[in-house]
Amino acid sequence: MSIRILGTGSALPERAVTNEEITELVDTSDEWIRERTGIAGRHISTGETVASLASRACVLALENARKSADEVELILVATCSPENVAPCAACQVQKEIGAGNAAAFDLNAACAGFLFALHTAWAYVESGIYRNALIAGSEVLSKIVDWEDRGTCILFGDGAGAVYVEKCGDGGILGFVQHSDGNKGDVLSCVGRTLENPFFRRISEKNYLKMDGREIFSFAVRQIPKTIEEALEKAGIAVGDVELFVLHQANRRIIEGISKRLGADEVHFPTNLERVGNTSSASIPLLLDELNRKGELKPGMRLVLSGFGAGLTCGACVLEW
Ligand code: COA
Repeated sequence: MSIRILGTGSALPERAVTNEEITELVDTSDEWIRERTGIAGRHISTGETVASLASRACVLALENARKSADEVELILVATCSPENVAPCAACQVQKEIGAGNAAAFDLNAACAGFLFALHTAWAYVESGIYRNALIAGSEVLSKIVDWEDRGTCILFGDGAGAVYVEKCGDGGILGFVQHSDGNKGDVLSCVGRTLENPFFRRISEKNYLKMDGREIFSFAVRQIPKTIEEALEKAGIAVGDVELFVLHQANRRIIEGISKRLGADEVHFPTNLERVGNTSSASIPLLLDELNRKGELKPGMRLVLSGFGAGLTCGACVLEW
């Protein structure tokens, strides 16, 4: 038994921000950003929230799957930038879309969060607890990005993507792996609220995203091909049998490095990072939805979804569309 993706949806904030606009904030240039990352623009929230973007993406995923909200049994929202400590974004989505019969909770594995949530849904269905799930990756990273740090603020964007999955007899997800390395937690981090109560007060650190770009870059280029190969082996499929590698949209050079190491032509690696930047846990379902709506995903097609992020975390999923 496995799960199959039956519908996809996505949502972006209305405000698109070009590289030129970023040059007004920090010492950088459109040319530098494009050359080093491939990014030309991103969408930035002017009021949209993790929950509102996730809700819009979930409604579209349900419409696409021709399912109604009250049929949904599990809602998972992957996010590392929620507005609230409580209620969680998934419960806000549940309320917003009217999915009164679902259990709902959030999950944080940073940019690999959507894959970890997909794997969690798979485990729930496999064990017979639920028959279906609505899974969103949603981020408003613009509130944790340091807009004075040119090393990070050029990279990230806000947005959400979602999929509706259901139990299936054959096909669907064929192989899955996920890994974490807590020893490398400092490479990409963002502190939350620091401890402060009537009995203790810790001097606050600057609570913005901090990153060692080079370290992340080499982690992704070394680790992701291995992770993908591991998932392919589990699925019993060769690199050459994969039509599309839907990778986390962090940096075009990282994607090129991964394709070279795997020995797969770059035509099999679609991207949208040019327009949306790195949207963390939203990036894989956002791209998947764009491909689905363009009619580029055909039944029986073999796909690999793979991503990496803070933690450090990484994962790969092999599936038949
Ligand atoms: N504009 C202009 N110059 C910049 C800049 C910017 N936005 N950001 C950094 N620089 C400068 C640096 O200060 C440095 O200058 P120096 O040589 O005078 O010290 C120079 O450019 C090279 O910096 P470096 O960090 O070595 O650049 P890089 O080629 O590694 O590119 C990243 C930087 C961030 C684009 C790249 O490391 C990267 O994409 N890493 C992965 C990050 C990522 O994907 N994170 C999310 C993971 S989920």
